[in-house]
Amino acid sequence: MKVLRTVRELTEAMNDARSKGLTIGLVPTMGALHQGHVSLMKRARIDNDVVVASVFVNPTQFNNPEDLRTYPRTEEADCEKMEAIGVDYAFIPSVEEVYPEPDTRVFDLGPVAEVMEGAMRPGHFNGVAQVVSKLFRMVNPHRAYFGEKDFQQIAVIRRMVELEGFDLEIVPCPILREEDGLAMSSRNVRLTPEQRAIAPAIHRALSESVAIAGEKSVEELKDFVVKTIDANPQMRTEYYEIVDGKTMQPIRDWKESECPVGCVTVYCGDVRLIDNIKY
Ligand code: PAF
Repeated sequence: MKVLRTVRELTEAMNDARSKGLTIGLVPTMGALHQGHVSLMKRARIDNDVVVASVFVNPTQFNNPEDLRTYPRTEEADCEKMEAIGVDYAFIPSVEEVYPEPDTRVFDLGPVAEVMEGAMRPGHFNGVAQVVSKLFRMVNPHRAYFGEKDFQQIAVIRRMVELEGFDLEIVPCPILREEDGLAMSSRNVRLTPEQRAIAPAIHRALSESVAIAGEKSVEELKDFVVKTIDANPQMRTEYYEIVDGKTMQPIRDWKESECPVGCVTVYCGDVRLIDNIKY
């Protein structure tokens, strides 16, 4: 595996691969790699001739400076994992390399970006669109891989792809869970042992809600999930929305969507965890 730190090295390597007719798969990450990332890279390895993974903690998508400061950074361990999977290129640039000048672009992301994470974290999705569009331009991949834990992010990236006219396939990959059901996330390492022990209650509440969805209205089910999670003293649900899986718009009646998805954000202590489930 080659570690590339400059855009120039990256574009040269990608142009070379393209000129040989090779297919390129990109896995954008912010590092602190876990088995969820590993599964995206393995999938990319199967689908493509060349696999590029980027490791870049993108400052423009953090609306909270403390969150950016405390985001885990584990480059050495990340490189070992990528090497073991057979990633060809790890792109690990500095902030100056990605943003030689401030990125002032404002994307017209529309309704998919206005609800849930978009409402709670102003500017977050614009920052995601900025960095992912830059990566797509640098790498020019045939396919790009994203985890469904960040379910809304995938819809936003699809919208950005449409706006920018990128010719590539977005490949959504299923959430990976710990044995006790907690969705794998780079933020999990910030949980205290006590918080880590109660955090699986999020997925438990979501799974129980699926089991009773047939007998409950959307509103009743939302209530059930929030109350079940918040029954744990260390947990506070920020939002629980049941949305259409394509438009991300909240539904009020099951008849409004053929693919409803419940999306939740929970503070476990000061760690913000997100998860979702399909109904
Ligand atoms: O999902 C993430 O880790 C990030 O939002 C992404 C897509 C790598 C952009 O920084």
